[in-house]
Amino acid sequence: MPAFKTLDDADVAGKRVLLRVDLNVPVANGHVTDATRIERVAPTILELSKKGAKVILLAHFGRPKDGPTPEFSLKPIAHAVAKVIGQNVHFAEDSIGQKAAEAVAKLGNGDILLLENTRFHKGEEKNDPAYVKALAANGDLYVNDAFSAAHRAHASTEGLAHVLPAYAGRTMQAELEALESGLGHPKRPVVAVVGGAKVSSKLDLLGNLVEKVDALVIGGGMANTFLAAQGVKVGKSLCEHDLADTAREIMAKAQAANCTIILPVDAIVAWHFEANAPFHAYGLDAIPEDGMILDVGPQSIERIKGAIDDAATLVWNGPLGAFELTPFDKATVAAARHVAERTKSGHLVSVAGGGDTVAALNHAGIADDLTYVSTAGGAFLEWMEGKPLPGVDVLKR
Ligand code: 3PG
Ligand code: MG
Repeated sequence: MPAFKTLDDADVAGKRVLLRVDLNVPVANGHVTDATRIERVAPTILELSKKGAKVILLAHFGRPKDGPTPEFSLKPIAHAVAKVIGQNVHFAEDSIGQKAAEAVAKLGNGDILLLENTRFHKGEEKNDPAYVKALAANGDLYVNDAFSAAHRAHASTEGLAHVLPAYAGRTMQAELEALESGLGHPKRPVVAVVGGAKVSSKLDLLGNLVEKVDALVIGGGMANTFLAAQGVKVGKSLCEHDLADTAREIMAKAQAANCTIILPVDAIVAWHFEANAPFHAYGLDAIPEDGMILDVGPQSIERIKGAIDDAATLVWNGPLGAFELTPFDKATVAAARHVAERTKSGHLVSVAGGGDTVAALNHAGIADDLTYVSTAGGAFLEWMEGKPLPGVDVLKR
């Protein structure tokens, strides 16, 4: 039995179901530029509709600070949802009160309604009981399918689960199962790949991972901080020199926990931070003073592939180099393709997440070949940091 109540436990026919989804999608000129998050929640919306529920979608959009503001309206997103699911989606201009109640009253079984941005009310982010109550007035059941917003203890992500019968949606369910196989009860050995620009933004994550995984590959700009802490001269590379002690502490903690840290052994150096800038591969003892490291080098790529070969489970967050600038995407793409191959051949359970990471995996063209790719940013990081996620904890049986 799953640790959460799922749609298998719910009798939804004829019921008003408040379904929390994450529609915080990128929009340019009024158009959704990446509908992945909508596509992820579509199966839950359609299942509820097919089972005869009155489906009432709750979501936030952006970070409005001053109540209702047109640029943060969910109205254009209603069309995007309708397009993805191939069904009409009604819209109400408020998430509570008369406008919401009237729109809900008009719903027939199987109909779908999107309520306006929950963050137009201050009570949402404050998890104010009065706002929770006003939302709950329109629902018989609550389903949360927004893992990517589960690190927020807001009214629509946490509060509602205390006042209505609460269930995990299909996407939330899949996400939780994937994460469980990634770090909860993983098949060992487990390797984590962590990249990205800064150590400072991933201190808690590194601290937690060294205690949970067997090997930790560190790449991206943050690797420079670790290399510098060991006396490597990194030239003009991105590097947090003031975090040298912290980097050494993380390495000591890893050693005590029997976690092997795999740092780059060579580097791709360029003199301009731009696509197709002239570059050269150097050993760590020869990084030019006026150059900057933009990717890990060829020997490092081979070592990383070896670490992937040794692993039964892999969790990944953050690119290994400046992947948005060719050819400094080389290591990230090579590692991603290797992970995809090992996964497809049945040797590896692979879980990846985070905004940059998903972009990098899409760029490598293999995002569909991993065991699970999370569309969550902050929530995925907090999960990797071992922090409790309020929107998940409240769903536990
Ligand atoms: C996200 O886009 O990461 C989630 O929807 C959460 O949004 P938030 O960071 O504004 O809370
Ligand atoms: Mg965020």
